[in-house]
Amino acid sequence: MSGLSNKRIILGITGGIAAYKGAEIVRRLQDQGAEVRVVMTAAATEFIRPLTLQALSGYQVHTDLLDAEAEAAMGHIELARWADLLLIAPATANFISTMVHGGADSLLSAVYLATSAKIAVAPAMNQAMWSHTASQQNIQALKGRETIIIEPDTGIQACGDIGPGRLQQPEIIVDQLKAIFESGLLAGKKVVITAGPTREAIDPVRYISNHSSGKMGYALAAALTEAGAKVVLISGPVLLDSPAGCELISVVSADAMLNASVAAVKDANIFISAAAVADYRAVDVADQKIKKQADNLSLELKKNPDIVSTIATDNPQLFVVGFAAETENIETFARDKLVRKKLHAIIANDVSRQDIGFNADDNEVSWIDAQSCKHLGKKSKSQLARDIVKLIAANYDG
Ligand code: PMT
Repeated sequence: MSGLSNKRIILGITGGIAAYKGAEIVRRLQDQGAEVRVVMTAAATEFIRPLTLQALSGYQVHTDLLDAEAEAAMGHIELARWADLLLIAPATANFISTMVHGGADSLLSAVYLATSAKIAVAPAMNQAMWSHTASQQNIQALKGRETIIIEPDTGIQACGDIGPGRLQQPEIIVDQLKAIFESGLLAGKKVVITAGPTREAIDPVRYISNHSSGKMGYALAAALTEAGAKVVLISGPVLLDSPAGCELISVVSADAMLNASVAAVKDANIFISAAAVADYRAVDVADQKIKKQADNLSLELKKNPDIVSTIATDNPQLFVVGFAAETENIETFARDKLVRKKLHAIIANDVSRQDIGFNADDNEVSWIDAQSCKHLGKKSKSQLARDIVKLIAANYDG
């Protein structure tokens, strides 16, 4: 059975240059077993003819809210009820704004308001328009309504600009839709996940830390929520917004992360340790800013508690997954941590590379457990997070 088997999908196409990619999206959705009906805005029909999409989808393309004939065949309310999912791709800045404000001046916006289907939006616009505060606020507003945003691709745009805003590639759009329907994999499970760095104070203005951005842990928290889990995200200091639907607990030091983790796992099923916890902290934290005096300054450090190891040892009922940040002998060192820290699985990444690992948008990892080692190729942290969630669900038998 394919990932979108028997799923009824409305593809809403709005008026941007990327509208022509609607044809390929229809094909790829059908390849996955979906039944697709197309709704276009008037502006979209300037970029691609409805006839093309009618021939591909096998159904009349809906364009007009006031078309008596079309309404008699399948009216907008019926269409809205028919769908399991409404995908708007490409979604222009203008249409996204209409969605946010609840306008119903086109068939597509009326269907959006009338449907209880899952909603996915794949924005496409000029990079400056995408970066504008108004667009970003609109995107946040949609995320707050549990809309799935398929982040735009980055590259050369039709206008010659370079940056984020290109319609995401059709195969990635389809992969993300498949993930939506795989949700429920962890329904009813409580997952606690740590993310980001910790900061260990030296004095009131200085600290020891590392380059973790939190992107990997936050992507996992989002994918776990998508999979139906109740997620508690315990995060060190990062610049990211909390994924919708998660409970966020913000901490600074390893000690605070340990305390928050101990409290949160009491009634949890799964614990994931994606945080880059500082291994050492200062023995004495100065009350006042340390003055620059001698040419050399020694700092005495002591080991921080090992959070994932403590949680795994004290909670044998939990399914515990760690990460291994390695620069050499990756599988051997990760396997050693798997055993030493009493984990069910460990996800190893090569943090010597600039294009993956710390603070990168992509990652490439290996899932290692007692029986196997599975290599997951380089992809965005969001996509990888969905693959990891599937592996967790397949291996957790609680
Ligand atoms: O945040 P990003 O910029 O997206 O980067 C992602 C990442 C590289 C931080 C992430 O993919 C990752 O590898 N996280 C684990 C980093 C790490 O501390 O690895 P480690 O090999 O040093 O530790 C092994 C495991 O023990 C980890 O699960 C870690 O969370 C845990 N640990 C380590 C030390 C400690 N005192 N307590 C712990 O719980």
